Amino acid sequence: MVNLLRLHLNESPYRLPEDRLERVLAGAAATLNRYPERAVDLLRERYAAYAGASAQRAAQVGPSPGQVVPTNGGDEAINLTVITLRPLVRQVVVLTPTFPEYSRAARLAGLDVVEVPLAGQDYHIDLDGLSEALRRAPSLVFVCSPNNPTGNLLDTLEALDVIAAAPGPAWVAVDEAYWEFAGETVLAELDRRENLVVIRTMSKAFCLAGARLGFALAAPALSRQLETARMLFNVDALTAAVGAAALDDPAYVRDVVAAVAEARERLAAGLGGLPGIVPYPSRANFVFVRTQRPGPDLARALALRGVLVRAYPDVPDLLHRLRVTVGAPEEVDRSLSAFADALGVPG
Ligand SMILES: Cc1ncc(COP(=O)(O)O)c(C=O)c1O
Repeated sequence: MVNLLRLHLNESPYRLPEDRLERVLAGAAATLNRYPERAVDLLRERYAAYAGASAQRAAQVGPSPGQVVPTNGGDEAINLTVITLRPLVRQVVVLTPTFPEYSRAARLAGLDVVEVPLAGQDYHIDLDGLSEALRRAPSLVFVCSPNNPTGNLLDTLEALDVIAAAPGPAWVAVDEAYWEFAGETVLAELDRRENLVVIRTMSKAFCLAGARLGFALAAPALSRQLETARMLFNVDALTAAVGAAALDDPAYVRDVVAAVAEARERLAAGLGGLPGIVPYPSRANFVFVRTQRPGPDLARALALRGVLVRAYPDVPDLLHRLRVTVGAPEEVDRSLSAFADALGVPG
């Protein structure tokens, strides 16, 4: 069977250290006759400590465990945010192109979706366009930084100020699924913004996409609302224990981030050297590229060579774009060879 290289979902090629995992699973298995609230409380404590360290700016204290709402991946944190705020807003504003789950969750909740396209070659936020959109109705805005799929950091603080100045009520969810790769977070803003939700995941830098662990963090009043809307026991004891163990000593995340940064630059440089491919600068674990050949076409040619990448056949503006996850060093070699071969570059 062909060993397909999965570079289409921004997963990590690395894994949580195995010995740690085995110890945790054995310990957690012994408590499976109980409901998981203790395991989940430990997870909250560990994530609050980790998040506090990441928010470390000046005298910031960081979130309390009560401000950390655990979810079944970042996807559930997105849904939970929409469901919690649904009675208070009429529209969800998305800065496109971005992660499609925001619009999906909004439509499922019966809310209007308003798109404010990112502007320019560098995909920056159109702050005037955002301000205009906020005038229409009470809003929930999603800001993804680094943004999927474009890979750049957005001017999130400027956007928060525009949202704070909106004429009507406005909330904002900042999705920091890839924040570890860029090292920039707005978490410190939770201290002074009642309308902010920060969404995190352990699927990316923590290498736990299969475990399904995410978080919504907010100021105390809003986190209590999120907690009320959360399905009781949405995170099971085994998953919570795996997450807590990963957070017990997250030093491996630094190694993952360093390895991804090195491989990312090599991948981007290699892709940039190929005919008809122009990579965008990336602060995440993937590289977004412009392609002369239609993206879905090239993605098919790569799949025939055993490499899966993300194309956007249903998004007219992205017909000539692909997103390629940064793999382990040997996977970068393999993906570059597949691209060269698919583009007819002599080997
Ligand atoms: C921007 C963004 N947010 C959230 C997620 C959801 O991740 P998960 O549900 O695995 O935590 C992803 C996954 O690719 C993502 O790209």
